[in-house]
Amino acid sequence: MKTEIGKNIVIASSLLSQGRIVAIPTETVYGLAANALDPVAVATIFEVKNRPFFDPLIVHCPSADRIADYVESIPFWANQLFEQFSPGPLTIVLKKKSIIPDIVTAGLDTVGIRIPNHPLTLELLAKLDFPLAAPSANPFGYVSPTTANHVFEQLGGKIPYIIDGGSCTVGVESTIITEVMGKPTVLRLGGTSIETIEEVIGKVDIQTSSSKPSAPGMLDSHYAPKRKVMLGRPDKSSDTAGFIGFQNEIASIAKEHQRILSPSGDLNEAARNIFSVLRELDAMNVDIIYAELLPEVGLGRAVNDRLKRAAA
Ligand code: TXA
Ligand code: MG
Repeated sequence: MKTEIGKNIVIASSLLSQGRIVAIPTETVYGLAANALDPVAVATIFEVKNRPFFDPLIVHCPSADRIADYVESIPFWANQLFEQFSPGPLTIVLKKKSIIPDIVTAGLDTVGIRIPNHPLTLELLAKLDFPLAAPSANPFGYVSPTTANHVFEQLGGKIPYIIDGGSCTVGVESTIITEVMGKPTVLRLGGTSIETIEEVIGKVDIQTSSSKPSAPGMLDSHYAPKRKVMLGRPDKSSDTAGFIGFQNEIASIAKEHQRILSPSGDLNEAARNIFSVLRELDAMNVDIIYAELLPEVGLGRAVNDRLKRAAA
Protein backbone atom coordinates (compact mmCIF):
# COMPACT_ATOMS: atom_id res chain seq x y z
CA MET A 1 0.00 0.00 0.00
CA LYS A 2 1.21 3.50 -0.77
CA THR A 3 1.31 5.79 2.26
CA GLU A 4 0.69 9.48 1.62
CA ILE A 5 1.70 12.25 4.02
CA GLY A 6 -0.20 15.55 3.86
CA LYS A 7 -2.52 18.01 5.52
CA ASN A 8 -5.66 17.17 3.55
CA ILE A 9 -8.53 16.79 6.00
CA VAL A 10 -10.98 15.94 3.20
CA ILE A 11 -8.90 12.91 2.15
CA ALA A 12 -8.47 11.84 5.76
CA SER A 13 -12.15 12.13 6.59
CA SER A 14 -13.21 10.25 3.48
CA LEU A 15 -10.78 7.39 4.23
CA LEU A 16 -12.02 7.21 7.83
CA SER A 17 -15.64 7.22 6.67
CA GLN A 18 -14.83 4.20 4.47
CA GLY A 19 -13.54 2.28 7.51
CA ARG A 20 -9.83 2.86 6.72
CA ILE A 21 -7.23 3.97 9.27
CA VAL A 22 -5.32 7.26 9.25
CA ALA A 23 -2.46 8.53 11.41
CA ILE A 24 -3.40 11.79 13.15
CA PRO A 25 -1.33 14.41 14.97
CA THR A 26 -2.19 15.33 18.54
CA GLU A 27 -0.41 17.55 21.05
CA THR A 28 0.92 14.44 22.87
CA VAL A 29 1.98 11.86 20.27
CA TYR A 30 0.68 10.78 16.84
CA GLY A 31 -2.31 8.44 16.92
CA LEU A 32 -3.48 5.66 14.61
CA ALA A 33 -7.16 6.44 14.15
CA ALA A 34 -10.29 4.61 13.04
CA ASN A 35 -14.05 5.09 13.38
CA ALA A 36 -14.56 4.17 17.04
CA LEU A 37 -18.12 2.98 16.34
CA ASP A 38 -17.02 0.51 13.64
CA PRO A 39 -15.56 -2.70 15.14
CA VAL A 40 -14.14 -3.86 11.81
CA ALA A 41 -12.26 -0.61 11.26
CA VAL A 42 -10.99 -0.73 14.85
CA ALA A 43 -9.74 -4.30 14.34
CA THR A 44 -7.43 -2.98 11.61
CA ILE A 45 -5.68 -0.78 14.19
CA PHE A 46 -4.81 -3.82 16.31
CA GLU A 47 -3.59 -5.66 13.23
CA VAL A 48 -1.36 -2.85 11.93
CA LYS A 49 0.11 -2.12 15.37
CA ASN A 50 0.45 -5.76 16.31
CA ARG A 51 -1.36 -4.83 19.48
CA PRO A 52 -2.88 -7.46 21.78
CA PHE A 53 -6.67 -7.28 22.02
CA PHE A 54 -6.54 -6.97 25.84
CA ASP A 55 -5.15 -3.43 25.53
CA PRO A 56 -8.04 -0.92 25.28
CA LEU A 57 -8.05 2.16 23.02
CA ILE A 58 -8.80 5.80 23.83
CA VAL A 59 -11.78 7.45 22.11
CA HIS A 60 -11.14 10.96 20.78
CA CYS A 61 -14.00 13.48 20.66
CA PRO A 62 -14.20 16.96 19.10
CA SER A 63 -15.69 18.75 22.10
CA ALA A 64 -16.94 18.25 25.65
CA ASP A 65 -20.62 18.36 24.65
CA ARG A 66 -20.21 15.06 22.73
CA ILE A 67 -18.87 13.03 25.66
CA ALA A 68 -22.33 12.26 27.03
CA ASP A 69 -23.09 10.39 23.77
CA TYR A 70 -20.56 7.71 24.74
CA VAL A 71 -20.58 7.45 28.54
CA GLU A 72 -23.34 6.65 31.04
CA SER A 73 -22.61 9.57 33.34
CA ILE A 74 -19.91 12.12 34.07
CA PRO A 75 -18.98 12.56 37.74
CA PHE A 76 -18.49 16.07 39.08
CA TRP A 77 -14.69 15.77 39.34
CA ALA A 78 -14.50 14.59 35.72
CA ASN A 79 -16.54 17.55 34.52
CA GLN A 80 -14.24 19.88 36.41
CA LEU A 81 -11.19 18.29 34.76
CA PHE A 82 -12.70 18.35 31.27
CA GLU A 83 -13.60 22.00 31.77
CA GLN A 84 -10.14 22.92 32.95
CA PHE A 85 -7.93 20.79 30.69
CA SER A 86 -9.82 20.00 27.47
CA PRO A 87 -8.85 20.10 24.74
CA GLY A 88 -5.58 18.84 26.18
CA PRO A 89 -3.43 15.90 27.28
CA LEU A 90 -5.96 14.26 29.58
CA THR A 91 -7.98 11.03 29.23
CA ILE A 92 -10.84 10.21 31.59
CA VAL A 93 -12.04 6.61 31.91
CA LEU A 94 -15.80 6.40 32.53
CA LYS A 95 -18.60 3.82 32.34
CA LYS A 96 -19.31 3.33 28.62
CA LYS A 97 -22.58 3.32 26.70
CA SER A 98 -23.26 0.27 24.53
CA ILE A 99 -22.67 2.29 21.34
CA ILE A 100 -18.92 1.89 22.01
CA PRO A 101 -17.98 -1.57 20.67
CA ASP A 102 -16.30 -4.07 23.00
CA ILE A 103 -13.20 -4.31 20.83
CA VAL A 104 -12.42 -0.64 21.61
CA THR A 105 -12.42 -1.21 25.37
CA ALA A 106 -10.99 -4.76 25.38
CA GLY A 107 -14.27 -5.96 26.83
CA LEU A 108 -14.21 -3.55 29.79
CA ASP A 109 -17.39 -1.70 30.72
CA THR A 110 -15.43 1.57 30.77
CA VAL A 111 -14.01 3.76 28.01
CA GLY A 112 -11.19 6.31 27.96
CA ILE A 113 -12.32 9.65 26.49
CA ARG A 114 -10.09 12.49 25.40
CA ILE A 115 -10.32 15.74 23.43
CA PRO A 116 -6.95 16.17 21.72
CA ASN A 117 -5.54 19.66 21.30
CA HIS A 118 -4.34 19.88 17.73
CA PRO A 119 -5.94 22.21 15.15
CA LEU A 120 -5.91 19.71 12.24
CA THR A 121 -7.28 16.84 14.30
CA LEU A 122 -9.94 19.03 15.91
CA GLU A 123 -10.98 20.15 12.41
CA LEU A 124 -11.10 16.50 11.31
CA LEU A 125 -13.13 15.40 14.35
CA ALA A 126 -15.60 18.24 13.82
CA LYS A 127 -16.18 17.07 10.24
CA LEU A 128 -16.86 13.43 11.17
CA ASP A 129 -20.11 12.07 12.55
CA PHE A 130 -18.24 9.51 14.69
CA PRO A 131 -15.43 9.72 17.28
CA LEU A 132 -11.97 8.29 16.62
CA ALA A 133 -10.43 5.37 18.47
CA ALA A 134 -6.67 5.90 18.42
CA PRO A 135 -3.67 4.38 20.17
CA SER A 136 -0.21 5.85 19.67
CA ALA A 137 0.91 5.24 16.07
CA ASN A 138 3.84 2.94 16.83
CA PRO A 139 4.26 -0.82 16.65
CA PHE A 140 3.17 -2.28 20.02
CA GLY A 141 5.77 -1.78 22.74
CA TYR A 142 8.02 0.60 20.78
CA VAL A 143 8.68 4.32 21.35
CA SER A 144 5.72 6.60 20.52
CA PRO A 145 5.95 8.85 17.43
CA THR A 146 6.08 12.64 17.76
CA THR A 147 6.46 13.56 14.06
CA ALA A 148 4.75 12.39 10.85
CA ASN A 149 8.11 11.04 9.75
CA HIS A 150 8.40 8.82 12.84
CA VAL A 151 5.06 7.30 11.85
CA PHE A 152 6.16 6.86 8.25
CA GLU A 153 9.40 5.12 9.26
CA GLN A 154 7.48 2.40 11.08
CA LEU A 155 4.06 2.18 9.50
CA GLY A 156 4.76 3.40 5.97
CA GLY A 157 3.29 0.90 3.50
CA LYS A 158 0.74 -0.30 6.05
CA ILE A 159 -1.64 2.68 6.21
CA PRO A 160 -3.02 4.90 3.45
CA TYR A 161 -2.59 8.37 4.96
CA ILE A 162 -0.65 10.30 7.62
CA ILE A 163 -1.81 13.80 8.51
CA ASP A 164 1.29 15.92 8.99
CA GLY A 165 0.70 18.24 11.92
CA GLY A 166 4.35 18.97 12.71
CA SER A 167 6.13 18.04 15.93
CA CYS A 168 3.97 17.27 18.95
CA THR A 169 4.09 20.14 21.41
CA VAL A 170 3.65 18.10 24.62
CA GLY A 171 5.58 14.98 23.61
CA VAL A 172 4.35 12.41 26.16
CA GLU A 173 0.95 10.69 26.12
CA SER A 174 -2.10 11.98 27.94
CA THR A 175 -2.54 11.53 31.68
CA ILE A 176 -5.20 8.87 32.29
CA ILE A 177 -7.53 9.19 35.27
CA THR A 178 -10.54 7.22 36.46
CA GLU A 179 -12.53 6.61 39.63
CA VAL A 180 -11.47 3.67 41.80
CA MET A 181 -13.59 2.98 44.88
CA GLY A 182 -15.01 6.48 44.83
CA LYS A 183 -11.66 8.23 44.44
CA PRO A 184 -10.15 9.91 41.34
CA THR A 185 -7.14 7.73 40.51
CA VAL A 186 -4.40 8.32 37.95
CA LEU A 187 -3.66 5.21 35.86
CA ARG A 188 -0.96 6.74 33.65
CA LEU A 189 1.31 9.72 34.27
CA GLY A 190 1.29 11.99 31.25
CA GLY A 191 1.06 15.44 29.73
CA THR A 192 -1.17 16.96 32.42
CA SER A 193 0.80 17.08 35.67
CA ILE A 194 -0.50 15.65 38.94
CA GLU A 195 0.10 19.03 40.55
CA THR A 196 -2.22 20.89 38.15
CA ILE A 197 -4.89 18.17 38.46
CA GLU A 198 -4.77 18.37 42.26
CA GLU A 199 -5.16 22.15 42.10
CA VAL A 200 -8.57 21.56 40.51
CA ILE A 201 -9.97 18.47 42.26
CA GLY A 202 -7.76 17.94 45.31
CA LYS A 203 -5.66 14.91 46.22
CA VAL A 204 -5.74 11.98 43.77
CA ASP A 205 -4.51 8.39 44.09
CA ILE A 206 -1.85 7.11 41.72
CA GLN A 207 -1.94 3.49 40.51
CA THR A 208 0.33 3.12 37.54
CA SER A 209 1.65 -0.38 38.13
CA SER A 210 1.07 -3.02 35.44
CA SER A 211 -0.05 -5.38 38.19
CA LYS A 212 -3.26 -3.40 38.69
CA PRO A 213 -6.10 -4.89 36.65
CA SER A 214 -7.69 -1.43 36.41
CA ALA A 215 -4.94 -0.34 34.03
CA PRO A 216 -4.68 -3.00 31.33
CA GLY A 217 -1.98 -2.38 28.78
CA MET A 218 0.26 -0.57 31.24
CA LEU A 219 3.00 -3.12 30.81
CA ASP A 220 6.29 -2.40 32.54
CA SER A 221 8.32 -3.00 29.39
CA HIS A 222 6.73 -0.34 27.21
CA TYR A 223 8.15 2.51 25.15
CA ALA A 224 11.23 0.35 24.63
CA PRO A 225 13.88 1.10 22.02
CA LYS A 226 15.69 -1.86 20.48
CA ARG A 227 18.90 -1.08 22.35
CA LYS A 228 19.34 -1.76 26.04
CA VAL A 229 18.50 1.21 28.29
CA MET A 230 20.10 1.68 31.75
CA LEU A 231 19.01 4.34 34.20
CA GLY A 232 21.66 6.69 35.58
CA ARG A 233 25.16 7.64 34.44
CA PRO A 234 27.84 5.14 33.41
CA ASP A 235 30.53 4.47 36.04
CA LYS A 236 33.35 4.24 33.48
CA SER A 237 34.09 5.84 30.11
CA SER A 238 32.82 4.20 26.96
CA ASP A 239 33.09 4.83 23.22
CA THR A 240 30.18 2.56 22.46
CA ALA A 241 27.58 3.84 24.93
CA GLY A 242 24.96 6.55 24.43
CA PHE A 243 23.68 9.04 27.02
CA ILE A 244 20.46 10.97 27.51
CA GLY A 245 21.01 13.80 29.98
CA PHE A 246 18.61 16.33 31.43
CA GLN A 247 20.67 19.55 31.27
CA ASN A 248 24.35 18.70 30.81
CA GLU A 249 26.63 16.44 28.83
CA ILE A 250 29.05 14.16 30.68
CA ALA A 251 32.77 13.57 30.09
CA SER A 252 32.77 9.77 30.01
CA ILE A 253 30.81 9.33 26.75
CA ALA A 254 31.59 10.47 23.20
CA LYS A 255 29.91 13.81 22.44
CA GLU A 256 28.17 12.53 19.31
CA HIS A 257 26.47 9.79 21.35
CA GLN A 258 24.86 12.25 23.77
CA ARG A 259 21.55 14.08 23.68
CA ILE A 260 20.38 16.68 26.18
CA LEU A 261 16.66 17.00 26.90
CA SER A 262 16.65 20.62 28.07
CA PRO A 263 19.81 22.69 28.61
CA SER A 264 17.77 25.26 30.54
CA GLY A 265 16.21 22.62 32.80
CA ASP A 266 12.65 23.03 31.49
CA LEU A 267 10.68 19.82 32.21
CA ASN A 268 8.10 20.58 29.51
CA GLU A 269 10.88 20.89 26.94
CA ALA A 270 12.35 17.61 28.20
CA ALA A 271 8.96 15.90 27.71
CA ARG A 272 8.71 17.33 24.19
CA ASN A 273 12.09 15.81 23.31
CA ILE A 274 12.17 12.47 25.10
CA PHE A 275 10.73 10.17 22.42
CA SER A 276 12.63 11.65 19.47
CA VAL A 277 15.89 11.51 21.46
CA LEU A 278 15.25 7.85 22.30
CA ARG A 279 14.72 7.17 18.60
CA GLU A 280 17.88 9.05 17.59
CA LEU A 281 20.04 7.12 20.01
CA ASP A 282 18.36 3.86 19.06
CA ALA A 283 19.40 4.52 15.45
CA MET A 284 23.06 5.05 16.42
CA ASN A 285 25.79 2.48 16.60
CA VAL A 286 25.75 2.23 20.41
CA ASP A 287 25.45 -0.94 22.49
CA ILE A 288 23.71 0.64 25.48
CA ILE A 289 21.84 3.86 26.24
CA TYR A 290 22.28 5.43 29.68
CA ALA A 291 19.48 7.78 30.70
CA GLU A 292 19.45 10.13 33.63
CA LEU A 293 16.18 10.52 35.56
CA LEU A 294 14.60 13.99 35.87
CA PRO A 295 13.34 15.70 39.02
CA GLU A 296 10.07 13.98 40.11
CA VAL A 297 7.86 17.05 39.63
CA GLY A 298 5.57 18.30 36.86
CA LEU A 299 6.12 16.50 33.56
CA GLY A 300 9.40 15.15 34.95
CA ARG A 301 7.34 12.35 36.49
CA ALA A 302 5.84 11.34 33.14
CA VAL A 303 9.26 11.37 31.46
CA ASN A 304 10.74 9.27 34.29
CA ASP A 305 7.88 6.81 33.94
CA ARG A 306 8.69 6.38 30.20
CA LEU A 307 12.41 6.00 30.92
CA LYS A 308 11.79 3.37 33.61
CA ARG A 309 9.57 1.38 31.26
CA ALA A 310 12.12 1.71 28.44
CA ALA A 311 14.72 0.29 30.83
CA ALA A 312 12.53 -2.53 32.17
O1 TXA B 1 -1.94 10.90 24.39
C1 TXA B 1 -2.53 9.85 24.21
O2 TXA B 1 -3.31 9.37 25.04
C2 TXA B 1 -2.29 9.11 22.88
C3 TXA B 1 -2.87 9.98 21.75
C4 TXA B 1 -2.78 9.30 20.42
O3 TXA B 1 -4.17 10.35 22.07
N1 TXA B 1 -2.87 7.82 22.87
C5 TXA B 1 -2.34 6.79 23.59
O4 TXA B 1 -2.98 5.58 23.39
O5 TXA B 1 -1.37 6.90 24.31
P1 TXA B 1 -2.36 4.18 23.78
O6 TXA B 1 -3.25 3.21 23.13
O7 TXA B 1 -0.95 4.12 23.39
O8 TXA B 1 -2.57 4.03 25.31
C6 TXA B 1 -3.88 3.83 25.78
C7 TXA B 1 -3.88 3.29 27.17
C8 TXA B 1 -4.05 1.79 27.25
O9 TXA B 1 -2.86 1.09 27.08
C9 TXA B 1 -4.61 1.62 28.66
O10 TXA B 1 -3.54 1.58 29.57
C10 TXA B 1 -5.39 2.90 28.86
O11 TXA B 1 -5.03 3.77 27.83
N2 TXA B 1 -6.83 2.69 28.75
C11 TXA B 1 -7.64 2.87 27.68
N3 TXA B 1 -8.91 2.57 27.96
C12 TXA B 1 -8.93 2.18 29.23
C13 TXA B 1 -9.95 1.71 30.12
N4 TXA B 1 -11.22 1.59 29.74
N5 TXA B 1 -9.58 1.39 31.38
C14 TXA B 1 -8.30 1.50 31.79
N6 TXA B 1 -7.30 1.94 30.99
C15 TXA B 1 -7.60 2.26 29.75
MG1 MG C 1 1.04 3.66 23.23
